[in-house]
Amino acid sequence: MLVQPFEAPIGADVLDVRIAEISDSEFDELYQAWLRFGVLRFRDQKLSDDELKTFSARFGELEYAPHGKVTAEELAKIPNPYVATISNIVENGKPIGGLSNLETSWHTDMSYIEQPPTASLLYAIEVPQHGGETAFCCMRTVLAEMPDELRARCTKLQIKHDAAHDSIGKLRRGHQPFDTAKDAPGVYHPALIAHPETKEPALYLGRRQYAYVKDCSIDESEQTLEEIWAHVARTHQCWTQRWKTGDLVVWDNRVVMHRRASFPNTERRLMRRTQVRATEKPRAAIAA
Ligand code: OGA
Ligand code: MN
Repeated sequence: MLVQPFEAPIGADVLDVRIAEISDSEFDELYQAWLRFGVLRFRDQKLSDDELKTFSARFGELEYAPHGKVTAEELAKIPNPYVATISNIVENGKPIGGLSNLETSWHTDMSYIEQPPTASLLYAIEVPQHGGETAFCCMRTVLAEMPDELRARCTKLQIKHDAAHDSIGKLRRGHQPFDTAKDAPGVYHPALIAHPETKEPALYLGRRQYAYVKDCSIDESEQTLEEIWAHVARTHQCWTQRWKTGDLVVWDNRVVMHRRASFPNTERRLMRRTQVRATEKPRAAIAA
């Protein structure tokens, strides 16, 4: 097994490994590389849903895929509740998965729950020839490059992460539209977090739309969020994954945000995603 860092602020390729057959000591090495590089890519894998689940569960207990607001009864009827299908393919008039062919906004997976997943794993079964790349943004570096004054303000902020909309702005199952970000359902998290394992601080954002800064007017909240997101755009600390069939990417949701580019709807894209349950809430970074 060889870990080869990308020429980017984040990410590494892991070469010479069949992840369906990985040993415990190899996994330990890989886990350390994942903490260090934030995103790992494995090429040329051949994984069934069960193999993807088994490998994902080595990072921790699995979290349910995002199903919107569902009752326990409805959840019990979902055939594979831990594995999300991300696809633009339509069968019998029904999309077989989420996120269609559109560009997604920058986001952290499921940051609208109290204990958002630690890891997400995305596996490519079919990929388009054009577009559909996934960019990852290093939130450690984004924070390190933040002007002191903005960083000092962020240290005190709690941001609400909207639960109602997915990354293409579509309402999730069981959710109703609302007027302003203040009314969005969701939970607050600190804007600056410390990684529970590496202790490194990072900026923590979910989706920009319907985000809301606690104890502010909507105007103040929007102004602060614009400033923060302008800084993210300015620093642009990214690595972009150009998918090939058989690629598996695992990222640390506490360290990166990600965004998917659009692709022509005349092409097919089929991915499976799993996510690993956190055992604690994001913790605020101690003021610098
Ligand atoms: C996701 C996601 C991006 C992609 O599954 O969480 O953001 O490239 N997917 O499909
Ligand atoms: Mn995502």
